[in-house]
Amino acid sequence: MNEFIRIEKLFCSLNKVQVLRNINISLNKSEFVSIIGPNGSGKTTLGKVVSGIIKQDSGDVFIDDKNIKDMSLPEIGRKIGYLFQNPDRQIFAPTVYEELSFAMKYKKTATDIIEKRVNEILNIFELSHLRDASTYSLSQGEKQRLALGAMLLNDPEYLILDEPTTGLDPKRKYELSKLLDSMVNRVGILLISHDKAFVLKHSHRIIELYDGSIINDKKN
Ligand SMILES: Nc1ncnc2c1ncn2[C@@H]1O[C@H](COP(=O)(O)OP(=O)(O)OP(=O)(O)O)[C@@H](O)[C@H]1O
Ligand SMILES: [Mg+2]
Repeated sequence: MNEFIRIEKLFCSLNKVQVLRNINISLNKSEFVSIIGPNGSGKTTLGKVVSGIIKQDSGDVFIDDKNIKDMSLPEIGRKIGYLFQNPDRQIFAPTVYEELSFAMKYKKTATDIIEKRVNEILNIFELSHLRDASTYSLSQGEKQRLALGAMLLNDPEYLILDEPTTGLDPKRKYELSKLLDSMVNRVGILLISHDKAFVLKHSHRIIELYDGSIINDKKN
């Protein structure tokens, strides 16, 4: 069924400690899937392996039937947008505007389209007043919104969001909800989250990790 990501017999260790054990998951773009589980159960590690940020010990990840072992990071990045649990890891440009426009400038998108899309994201994420602000001066919540906005402007086919609601107040969480709702069926979403209400509200399917293994994989 239009499978987009396939994870097969995946094992991964960090500093010689096994963190993921025999993970098998098939994901398609029309599904909103959440990964839940206690602290340290391996959720972030799984997201990073699938995005090519860290390498597994054994097993395979396929994106669009291509093994990520044969893909470069930018190649994976064009397919999958990955939102870091810590937005400081993601933000690299000196100002909010530069962070948001970077990918489109790189792709030589027309200036008026860049302006329109950047303004749209500035509005959605309530960052308009910070358009020319230094990214270092932002609060955690503002950084989170900026990282998410920049990622969306990359037009990925699939999103992996690691704790995207951290640092969002209820109103902004609601805005994020609406935004994700509007993307479902167009963009596949894998949400990693401790936020039960948010997970239950959005997910078609919930996968539970415990100590590096899948202990539950069911429809919501
Ligand atoms: N860089 C690292 N080096 C060594 N061990 C690590 C490293 N990063 C994470 N770990 C360990 O790997 C395990 C899985 O961590 P991971 O961050 O994937 O869990 P998580 O489910 O995302 O947790 P949380 O809910 O707290 O975000 C934990 O035991 C953690 O201590
Ligand atoms: Mg984590």
